[in-house]
Amino acid sequence: MPEFTNPFIGVVPRKMTDSELARAIRLNIAAEHEAVHIYLAHADATDNPLAAKVLRDIADEERQHIGEFMRLLSILLPDEDAFLAEGANEVNEMAEEMGNQKQSGSKGK
Ligand SMILES: [Fe+2]
Repeated sequence: MPEFTNPFIGVVPRKMTDSELARAIRLNIAAEHEAVHIYLAHADATDNPLAAKVLRDIADEERQHIGEFMRLLSILLPDEDAFLAEGANEVNEMAEEMGNQKQSGSKGK
């Protein structure tokens, strides 16, 4: 959650290395996921249809931001895509073991 009472939170006193930047981007991704969760929870918790529509629309925009950050992370860290694909393949293997079909849009095999 934002900590607006501290004006120095998140201020880095120097330029970050690429490694530090990659870690910062991971925090940004986490913040986007948190925002999606909060907006959807608030949409679920209101009977106001306009507010729910706006909240769900913004949640979808945050999901796009996650994609932007994920792509940036892939560019900053050349091995990132391999780790993501490895994780996706592990889930695909578990799904196959359980007799489920792979979900459309999955990465890997
Ligand atoms: Fe965002």
